[in-house]
Amino acid sequence: MPDIVRFEDPTGEGTPIELEVFAVSKDAADYEQRVRKIPEPDPYYVDLGMLYRLALVEEVRRRDVIHAPIHVALRGHMGTGKDHDLEQFAASLRLPYYRIPLTGEVRDITLIGSTKLHGDGKGGTESRWEDGDITRALRGPALINMSELNAAGAETLFALHALLDRYGALDLPTGETVRLRPDTRVFGTMNPTDLRDYAGTQTLNKAFADRWVIWEKRFPQIEQVEQMLRMRYPNMKDAFVTTIARLTTEVNESFTASDARTRVGTPMSLRSVLDRLPAGLWMYAHTKDPLRKSWESLVLSHIDPFDFDHYETVWNAVARRGPEGPPFD
Ligand SMILES: Nc1ncnc2c1ncn2[C@@H]1O[C@H](COP(=O)(O)OP(=O)(O)OP(=O)(O)O)[C@@H](O)[C@H]1O
Ligand SMILES: [Mg+2]
Repeated sequence: MPDIVRFEDPTGEGTPIELEVFAVSKDAADYEQRVRKIPEPDPYYVDLGMLYRLALVEEVRRRDVIHAPIHVALRGHMGTGKDHDLEQFAASLRLPYYRIPLTGEVRDITLIGSTKLHGDGKGGTESRWEDGDITRALRGPALINMSELNAAGAETLFALHALLDRYGALDLPTGETVRLRPDTRVFGTMNPTDLRDYAGTQTLNKAFADRWVIWEKRFPQIEQVEQMLRMRYPNMKDAFVTTIARLTTEVNESFTASDARTRVGTPMSLRSVLDRLPAGLWMYAHTKDPLRKSWESLVLSHIDPFDFDHYETVWNAVARRGPEGPPFD
């Protein structure tokens, strides 16, 4: 009996989706390496609906009613959880997960491969083909996450065009054609370029963008931030949970606001909210105002000086004073 994984729609609207998980063949030359790339499920992961949406695409794919590949790219601001979603989707389907950043520095030879010189054991050298990151991932079952899609240079993207459209394969300079296997999925993530600057990114080349279905990943809602905090820190006192969630959503609303004079320039990422601020609460647990101390030393220290006033305006509107400590039961 193959293993089945069940995806529920957190909104309760859609019917649950059941999918067979993938398996890495024991005969694969790189079996050991590949199974080690299957991610562990994160016990603190809160599905805000993304896993279910990804499962919907997966289900349609498997029904074989669409005869062209669908590749999904998640676009959202820093720390909204794009990479985490894809990693957890891979964990659910037991797919080896290859996260390959397409930064401006990366060249197509890093991704596709190149011919390298090796010692031949007899004092001379011989040249041998060595797979690049994407080629290596394509050799078996894989979920490939091309992260920071819009940071890559044009020539890198062109090298991937054929892989991502109907052709579905990479032609190597050696003459070999590496096809997209039925158990390989390609996804991507990127930051939006329209609103604020993310150094090194650009608007996506149109022909490249047309090879993707682009889904926006928004900042989490206040209840969702609360849910994530409670899941991860079950003993955090309620007043701290709700105040942090409000600070977060208000800063992020200000970030997306249209008035350039009053909006903040740096959003509060989930890393700030779920990792740094709670660390501060532990560090300052026994001070008079743990949340304020933690805000100063782990949030304010993190932002551009011109954002100070905006952040403090939000602080004053939401908290003024942090809740009574200690923050954890
Ligand atoms: N749904 C979730 N449930 C619990 N924790 C989450 C969730 N989504 C993200 N996180 C946490 O938030 C942090 C940021 O997530 P991630 O790295 O995926 O963001 P990102 O959108 O890829 O950011 P960037 O654009 O900066 O690369 C991680 O520490 C992750 O553990
Ligand atoms: Mg990321």
